[in-house]
Amino acid sequence: MTITFIGHGYVGLVTATVFADLGNKVWVVGHTAKKIEDLKKGITPFYEPGLTELVKKNIDAKRLLFTLDYDKSISESEIVFIAVGTPPYKTGDAQLSTVFDVSENIAKYLNGYTVVAVKSTVPPGTCKKVYGIIEALKKSGVEFDVASCPEFLREGTAILDTLNPDRIVIGTESKKAEEKLIELHKAINENFVLTNLETSELIKYASNSFLATKISFANAIAKLSELLGADGLRVLEGIGIDRRIGKAFLSPGPGYGGSCFPKDVKALVAIAKDYDYSFSLLESVEKVNDQAKRDIVRKVRKAVGELRKKKIGVLGLSFKPDTDDMRDAPAIDIIELMKRDGALIKAYDPQAIENAKGLIKDIEFAKDLYDCAKDAEALVVVTDWNEFKDVDFKRLKSLMKNPIIIDGRNIYDPEKLRKLGFTYVGVGR
Ligand code: UDX
Repeated sequence: MTITFIGHGYVGLVTATVFADLGNKVWVVGHTAKKIEDLKKGITPFYEPGLTELVKKNIDAKRLLFTLDYDKSISESEIVFIAVGTPPYKTGDAQLSTVFDVSENIAKYLNGYTVVAVKSTVPPGTCKKVYGIIEALKKSGVEFDVASCPEFLREGTAILDTLNPDRIVIGTESKKAEEKLIELHKAINENFVLTNLETSELIKYASNSFLATKISFANAIAKLSELLGADGLRVLEGIGIDRRIGKAFLSPGPGYGGSCFPKDVKALVAIAKDYDYSFSLLESVEKVNDQAKRDIVRKVRKAVGELRKKKIGVLGLSFKPDTDDMRDAPAIDIIELMKRDGALIKAYDPQAIENAKGLIKDIEFAKDLYDCAKDAEALVVVTDWNEFKDVDFKRLKSLMKNPIIIDGRNIYDPEKLRKLGFTYVGVGR
């Protein structure tokens, strides 16, 4: 099948590449000449394990094509996916202008029956608006349908997630569009959730908001366990074994970050407000998430004392491991709060330093973990990168001014570290 993706962010580029690898001819349409020229050479705009290799492989096989031009790509495609960003306004509402702009462009070049499938996360009702825009601008006689086809891939495991999804959600009012989308996706998984546009659009927000709720619940239980003298990790393990609850997304830490959870929780609160419903549960999820970041800083203060002019090492900047994405990363707020106290921050991350430089000012960046620990009064683990787990603790201790570790991700064994002479503070333990 020939298909087009508008947008080459995490969702657009990864999904397009996977569909090309499955044998389809896939066009990827962008709007920045430099990025498209780079992509044609196999240079990807972000770090994602395995992606560059897979992009190059499919460029060489002539199945993956990059262009700025809507004309050829849209006119020869059976399905056109919209996969552009929907970043939040200050109010939390999703910005939909790019979705609507690309819909106008698509309308002009439709040629023969085409399914326009929206992969971007959009508030319920948006796909119907996309339909209206295309209907008004398309050439007369050209047939099309609109579908909602949300994506659930995670950064860091994006290719694996795209190839092994738990379900494929397709929302449309048209049987013909549904069949086309089933035909394309059945090579991946046949566990389809077939529904209407609004339901499909809401499934994406509900899914991300529920996962964020699990994380905030875990952070609240961890906090309460610290206050009660209970072992929070055992409590969460104990509840997670119940299959109705499930073990996943119950790890307490510095709070959720990234390009989806913070944005989608805020958007769902805003969507509910538009319909005069106060989604207070989700408002609390956000509050707990904010407290989780503040709590890490409170622990640093408690262990180190007054932070003014003290060197603090921060391990991990990206919002989670295996990505260089800094969007809404907890490290940003945690570092800003410590800077406000006058701390001197030196931070290290295996991939995200370049992206962090634009977002966090007046701090030093270390070349590795040991450089980060040098003369530090405390080390704070913010992201659970694998390379932080296997450490020469004796060397670390000899480099630090004070052997204090605030382990925001519970990656170390507290007993082992205490035996080696460290002051160890985790989350919920
Ligand atoms: C998420 C959804 O998982 C994915 O389905 C959707 O398509 C996009 O949003 P992503 O943001 O890439 O994916 O990362 P994810 O692995 O879900 O982690 C999100 C945040 O939650 C990270 O900051 C992570 O560190 C945090 N997290 C996750 C926890 O704090 N505890 C957990 O138990 C799990």
